Amino acid sequence: MELEKEISKRRTFAIISHPDAGKTTLTEKFLLFGGAIVTAGAVKSNKIRKAATSDFMEIEKQRGISVATSVMGFDFQGQRVNILDTPGHKDFAEDTYRTLTAVDSVILVVDCIKGVEEQTEKLMAVCRMRNTPVIIFINKMDREGKNPFDLLDELQDKLMIHVRPLTWPISGGESFKGVYNLYRKELNLFEPNKTTVSKSVTTIVDLEDKQLSEFIGEKYTDQLKEDVHLVEGVFEPFNKELYREGYLAPVFFGSAINNFGVLELLETFLEIAPSPAARETVEREVKAEEENFTGFVFKIHANLDPNHRDRIAFLRVCSGKFERNKFYWHTRLEKKIRFANPTSFMANEKTLIEEAYPGDVVGLFDNGIFKIGDTLTEGEMLHYKGIPSFSPEIFKEVENRDPFKTKQLEKGIQQLTEEGVAQLFLQQPGSRKIVGTVGELQFDVIKFRIEHEYAAKCDFRPLNFNKAFWITADTEANLDQFIRNRAANIVYDKENRPVYLSESDWMTNMLKQSFASIQFHTTSEFDIVSNIY
Ligand code: G4P
Repeated sequence: MELEKEISKRRTFAIISHPDAGKTTLTEKFLLFGGAIVTAGAVKSNKIRKAATSDFMEIEKQRGISVATSVMGFDFQGQRVNILDTPGHKDFAEDTYRTLTAVDSVILVVDCIKGVEEQTEKLMAVCRMRNTPVIIFINKMDREGKNPFDLLDELQDKLMIHVRPLTWPISGGESFKGVYNLYRKELNLFEPNKTTVSKSVTTIVDLEDKQLSEFIGEKYTDQLKEDVHLVEGVFEPFNKELYREGYLAPVFFGSAINNFGVLELLETFLEIAPSPAARETVEREVKAEEENFTGFVFKIHANLDPNHRDRIAFLRVCSGKFERNKFYWHTRLEKKIRFANPTSFMANEKTLIEEAYPGDVVGLFDNGIFKIGDTLTEGEMLHYKGIPSFSPEIFKEVENRDPFKTKQLEKGIQQLTEEGVAQLFLQQPGSRKIVGTVGELQFDVIKFRIEHEYAAKCDFRPLNFNKAFWITADTEANLDQFIRNRAANIVYDKENRPVYLSESDWMTNMLKQSFASIQFHTTSEFDIVSNIY
């Protein structure tokens, strides 16, 4: 009973967006409501910025980019909210994709001026792979943006999801009046730079209510009536089940920096978002309510404490209760392990925990025993599915710059790629090391860390590839034939699976035609997730 109660209280999610749409600002406001931070309304305040972002790494501090993924937990209205923060920079997109495997739902922030941007589409594609429920927050309504109907069309077309507005904006930019809550039939009037955590709403029984024009004027009342009429005619009514199946995304309008529309968003989120549900392992489906603890590692982070060379593995609890100092079964190593210092996170503050429940994220001290995707259980042989590697976009060969430090370099490259900083591919003959990343920045991160943590030196030689495809074929012989034919493009991933590196999309299309028996997959878990491009 206790376990079920704890599970139903939990909401584990990520706030995601294209950089600059307002993810950090919205996260800060949520933390403010949750009492996790105390200074209201001061986004620019360094203190808050520090708490809301996760600048553990030296290199991150230097560059001012949030590289790490941290977890922020707080209690609000009797529920436990776990926000898994994701790095905003696009070069760290793979980190974000992996974090999305550990959440139960997401809030997607869209800038009303820019609409759907490149990163928004990619993130949504990852959510679609697992039918993750999505709530959309259209931000920056205090600025002159696109027409709300056009925005909704754009969301449906580009994100390939059905949408349903739950609030509706009354004008926008300089003349932004506020939002009308279509379900509660409440008017929420806009007050710029609101720094309190309360909301001021006026209940309007129906749109013919005389009070309405007193608040927003004749012109906007007429416009609102017309818009609402159209909305009700065009969009399907909101249906919680469809939302939870990842088919329908409710949409809210607001302005994060003005703390406007944020509390409504948070309250609705807590009401409709799913608590931890069953998850698939290779062997069977595991229900969150099962008594035995299970969980998986979705992220490994080095240097949380610059004084130590340790790493922290982020484990998502999937079922049962995790307890400190209890022995658990590491199913890849087939070994019993006990954790004396499991931690929970509030940005860069660590707190020792005694227990954790499904939906919680636990930080485990890692001296090299974990890889991303590892499963812990109470003895059962289970392997959680769905931590795929995605195709990198930039490929470079590792060049050793200090022959006396070859061993250190190999260890460094091995460990950093295990952490998920980049992907390592080997090419034969000669075991050439090819590193694949989503952005140039990771090469700088690797170089920096190889030098500072492993005392080795390396450079990277650019290679002329643009995408990686995990390949399979109908028969072993056909696969062998393709591998021989395209030897210069074939590499092997960390699991020794063959991967084809393509020079151009044109070339890949040609090959797809000439080698009809070969399947090209854009993620490593092609058996459970579909291609995302
Ligand atoms: P991100 O994490 O998605 O990258 O976005 P972030 O919250 O950092 O917001 C990006 C910029 O947008 C910030 O301005 C922020 O103040 C602004 N912003 C966020 N919400 C709103 C909003 O509702 N209305 C308006 N007008 N602006 C908003 P910046 O100048 O880039 O950064 P800063 O100097 O203010 O920190």
